[in-house]
Amino acid sequence: MKMNIPITKTIFGDEEKEAMVKPLETGWVVQGPNVAKFQKMFSEFTGAKFAHATTSCTTALHLGLEAMGITRGDKVIVPSFTYVASANAVEYTGAEVVFCDIDLRTFNIDETKLEDLIKNDTSIKAIMPVNLFGLCSNMPYIMNLAKKYDLKVIEDSACGFDGWIGDNHSGTFADVGCFSFHPRKSICTGEGGMLITNDDKIANKVSQLKDHGASKSDLQRHKEKGGSLLPDFTMRGYNYRMTDMQGALGVCQMDKKEYIMNGRREVAVKYDEALKDISQLVTPYIPENYKHGYQSYVCIFTDGEDISNLTKEQIDRLNIKRNIFMEKLEEMTIATRQGTHAVHTLGYYKNKNNFKDEDFLMSYAADRLSIALPLYAGMSDEEFDYVITNIKEALK
Ligand SMILES: Cc1ncc(COP(=O)(O)O)c(C=O)c1O
Repeated sequence: MKMNIPITKTIFGDEEKEAMVKPLETGWVVQGPNVAKFQKMFSEFTGAKFAHATTSCTTALHLGLEAMGITRGDKVIVPSFTYVASANAVEYTGAEVVFCDIDLRTFNIDETKLEDLIKNDTSIKAIMPVNLFGLCSNMPYIMNLAKKYDLKVIEDSACGFDGWIGDNHSGTFADVGCFSFHPRKSICTGEGGMLITNDDKIANKVSQLKDHGASKSDLQRHKEKGGSLLPDFTMRGYNYRMTDMQGALGVCQMDKKEYIMNGRREVAVKYDEALKDISQLVTPYIPENYKHGYQSYVCIFTDGEDISNLTKEQIDRLNIKRNIFMEKLEEMTIATRQGTHAVHTLGYYKNKNNFKDEDFLMSYAADRLSIALPLYAGMSDEEFDYVITNIKEALK
């Protein structure tokens, strides 16, 4: 009998339903007490001094870049294998994206390629490492390099919830870290994002920028005397405020983060074990002292071939087989996805820069050969066995 296995599942229960209704009853629906509580819980969990909730990770990235002073004429390095929003956020500021290829083992920016990009280009003002699928980039190395060349760093930690290097949470290494609470992420508020920083100046600027540039938030104004007078608007801002219903969801999700994350990790460990002798798939690599957040469990499809010297021809040939493999799983109603995009191959960036697929070969390989397997807390043994049995069958 077929089982319906989604790529992931949001973990919502009665707590979320009840919490969502309360703002409707009090009438405080935008950026109120629930958002304040969510921010506090998030900063305590990550260890960041400040946390600012936003409408999405994309808007958090935009705010972070602007608050760090990134503007027209500047360049920002972004890995070429990431969700398109990382690059788009840079373009919102008027700055130019400079792509850097990735390390296929981690799916993260290849830090060994960074210095060559930076040392001859004084327009490069920032690096945006992306902590993809929940695994931190080599942040200690990147932060050292940034210090040497006086660059700003913003971590796209959209997928980075509960990802760590030692005791340091994803997003806390750089000047700014940004998170997503979209349904594909481990904790979810519908749409939603969070910006964290330890820098007082950046934090103050972000709090104003996300609220039209207002020098005082509505909540602050209502709590103080003289709330009838509107504040000054001292900068040109945006409306990137999270609603208090989303904030209420965020609080509930933080309350059940252990269940969600332990559940995801349990499934990841079972995949590691079940797939370790299957030569057609390479399972996620975790450097020593790193803790994977498992926003996604992403393998590389090799069909048993040696991929240490990949060429475009080999990638294209294996890509056809990977897609057939994914189709076979789809026929058994098991959802899989390619990991994410090689952004330089997407129409807008490709046409703008005349990129060829092989310009960033590892990103191209990651796009064409990656496969994310279903992963969610509460996946039953029957569901897991069904996925593994069908993976083995499809690979025959
Ligand atoms: C790496 C990365 N960056 C940015 C984003 C954008 O997040 P959001 O949808 O919250 O704007 C995503 C979302 O999928 C992502 O995976």
